Amino acid sequence: MGAGSPPLLSISGLTVVLAGRPETRLLDSVQFELRKGEFFSLIGESGSGKSVLCSTIMGVASPELRYLGDIHIEGRPLADVDRGRRAMIYQQPILYLNPVRSIGFQLRETVQMIGGLSKKEALERAADLLGDVGINDPNETMRKYPNQMSGGMNQRVMIAMALAMKPKLLIADEPTSALDVTTQKQILDLLERLRPDMAILFVTHDLGVALQRSDRIGVLYAGQLVEIGRADLVARIPSHPYTRALFSAVPPLSGRTRRLHSPAGSLADPTQREAGCNFASRCFRTLDICRHTRPPLKGIPEQAVACHNLEA
Ligand SMILES: Nc1ncnc2c1ncn2[C@@H]1O[C@H](COP(=O)(O)OP(=O)(O)O)[C@@H](O)[C@H]1O
Ligand SMILES: [Mg+2]
Repeated sequence: MGAGSPPLLSISGLTVVLAGRPETRLLDSVQFELRKGEFFSLIGESGSGKSVLCSTIMGVASPELRYLGDIHIEGRPLADVDRGRRAMIYQQPILYLNPVRSIGFQLRETVQMIGGLSKKEALERAADLLGDVGINDPNETMRKYPNQMSGGMNQRVMIAMALAMKPKLLIADEPTSALDVTTQKQILDLLERLRPDMAILFVTHDLGVALQRSDRIGVLYAGQLVEIGRADLVARIPSHPYTRALFSAVPPLSGRTRRLHSPAGSLADPTQREAGCNFASRCFRTLDICRHTRPPLKGIPEQAVACHNLEA
């Protein structure tokens, strides 16, 4: 990709509201870009808007949600982008697989959606895809049903289905959260292998995973991107008070898996947004300005932070 080519994913001023309730803010002016080959982790406690962000980019958000702002893929607005340019995998693949159809049937159907292949060719491609995601016995697996397979195997099948679309952007919404540590690592290694050909937007609760695997990290708090930057910088110098709180429980990069540590207090209600910084009510160093002016993301491309009070 040349230096002048557009980013693979570009999001600006992305605000998501509930239909008929323009005062709500499930997402609030979210802005970031992803380049091809990038592994980007999005972290933030439950309810911060990670899944809303993923489903909005995918174009599968529930009908009661509305978005404002721009989402571009390879420089084109979302509405003009071929559905196959982006694919998504989920925390519980079993919910997205058809229980009464064999893996082979489902994967072949997905392959044929792209078009141009006969049934026999599509079956061969399905077997190849299963091989690509590290399944050793593709033909045997194709005969199985989702409930005959482990969570890790079903996740591989989901990834194979995603790859069948030849996506440029792979969105993974907590794809390893339900898996044991060994399987988790295998799935992450698999994503790592796929990464050169696409951009990966990886949602996780696991700081260790985010730090070890990502080029960059974004921290979402109550619908706001409060910090974004190179993973090593965010880990070494977490700058937003919320990011600091997340990282305060365990020293980063100790190699251990760890869950997010949330600061005291609870997430602001997205239907009752106040003016000002969404984190103000939980922050230990709130200034007057924090209560009435929303801080924009500021900084350098390597690390930007939305906080009025960085010097404190
Ligand atoms: N369809 C919906 N209708 C109303 N509120 C929703 C809907 N989807 C998500 N929300 C709300 O948006 C916020 C963010 O949710 P979500 O993106 O699922 O969080 P996360 O994935 O970070 O845990 C939550 O407060 C959630 O209740
Ligand atoms: Mg979620």
